Amino acid sequence: MKQITDQVLVIFGASGDLTYRKLVPALFDLYIQDLLPENFRVLGVARSDFSDDSFRKKMSEGITNYSSLYHSRKEELDYFLSSIHYLSINTDNPSDYSTLKSELEQLDTEYKTDGNYLFYLSTPPSLYPLIPRYLALQGLNKKEGKIRRIIIEKPFGTDLISAINLNQSLLADFEEDQIYRMDHYLGKETVQNMLVTRFSNSIYEPLWNRNFIHHVEITAAESIGVENRGGYYDGSGALRDMVQNHLLQLLAFVAMEPPSVIGSDAIRNEKLKVFQAIRPLSHENLLTDVIRGQYIASKVKGVMEGGYREEKNVNPESRTETYIALKMFIDNWRWGGVPFYLRTGKRLPTRVSEVVIHFKPAPLNLFGGDESNRGNTLVMRIQPDEGLLLKTGMKVPGSGYNVKEVNMDFHYSQLQDTYLPSAYERLLLDAMLGDPTLYTRGDALESAWSFVQPILDYWQENPEAPLYGYPCGSWGPEGADKLIEGKDITWRYPCKNLSDDGIYCEL
Ligand code: BG6
Repeated sequence: MKQITDQVLVIFGASGDLTYRKLVPALFDLYIQDLLPENFRVLGVARSDFSDDSFRKKMSEGITNYSSLYHSRKEELDYFLSSIHYLSINTDNPSDYSTLKSELEQLDTEYKTDGNYLFYLSTPPSLYPLIPRYLALQGLNKKEGKIRRIIIEKPFGTDLISAINLNQSLLADFEEDQIYRMDHYLGKETVQNMLVTRFSNSIYEPLWNRNFIHHVEITAAESIGVENRGGYYDGSGALRDMVQNHLLQLLAFVAMEPPSVIGSDAIRNEKLKVFQAIRPLSHENLLTDVIRGQYIASKVKGVMEGGYREEKNVNPESRTETYIALKMFIDNWRWGGVPFYLRTGKRLPTRVSEVVIHFKPAPLNLFGGDESNRGNTLVMRIQPDEGLLLKTGMKVPGSGYNVKEVNMDFHYSQLQDTYLPSAYERLLLDAMLGDPTLYTRGDALESAWSFVQPILDYWQENPEAPLYGYPCGSWGPEGADKLIEGKDITWRYPCKNLSDDGIYCEL
């Protein structure tokens, strides 16, 4: 593997949840696997008042609770914690950045990190345009043979215009190859495996087109609600929170052409072409092909559960969608006429993300019977039961030719001694290495927003556009079923409704 250059990882927003639950535990797991450079420091930056010691104590708790590889490795933990430092500054005050610069220089002198810095912005998004500017005022953006990279957490903009503006402001001080836009779905092992499934097997790719594929389903279901993020979520909703980024990234991996090499530009060029080929939703399709819903109070297995409007920091009259289903098309040679169905929602019966390829049935139903010619289904299970499932027809042993659908099912859990790294491990490592393949490029990000923007505009201009209530623990509004229903076609339901209530209503 490529050697990682010595460097300091500067985390802005270090007192927040992401640092505690994801970033520092992921760094510790990288350390345990001996993947960090020899001279490596983490500098947490935030407004809160921590000393190095009190910050390390907090991070130690985060590691013990959330690292995958901790397993009571106290000695390693202590050693790793000693590489973490903390600096309290007012991140929206440009003059505080000279203190940051001196701190970094001091770390360089003491720990031989050689002026190489990776900045991670995990702050409120209002600071995303400011921090890079203030870093640049101190010259901390200048490469001059050094590592000067910047990772931006999601959300990257709240609409097309704000995303374009943010890109422009970043590009005023950093070059595109210094900017790493985070979408943690791309760090998932199973998402990357979609490329391997498609392009390392000779049996799938010849069938991977409009001639053999009937439709494609992409689902990201969550059983949790908005938890303590009501304030953020109410201004966002499922379209911005999940579709614009994670689901469209999955779509790009399913639909892209094979790149000529495995390289960041080659792969990201192909993804961009997919976004550019998505058919814009017409005014009529905005009504018929986009279904939004919001969870409402209902009984799940006998227990009453609160609705979205009762959540903390949510407007009691909110019309924010916690569920969305869409039908869309990619207008290119490979995919002409193949519908792609996307859905995501909170408070659904289970947590599951998967991509389902529905192949067309054989041209002749030779054996008769319901299961004899369904068309094969390939399920790429992203999480939580990571794996690959192919549904195929088999002769029922005995007389005649009765056909039954059976599963050829691979689970990652069957791989012995194989460690599945977390998305943040992979993505942090890549940014440290300088490989942006699994980060979103600015042009693709704007292109994804271009598809989403008319939906946002339509809801803004028509606040009374249907918003359907769906019971907690159900698979979402009934209208979403109608979106996909056709002869013998429904969404795939990895598990049954848990809701005791059949309350579906328009809100
Ligand atoms: C985040 C969203 O980007 O992704 C959350 O903001 C969502 O609302 C989360 O819960 C889902 O990620 P994962 O990895 O649990 O599927």
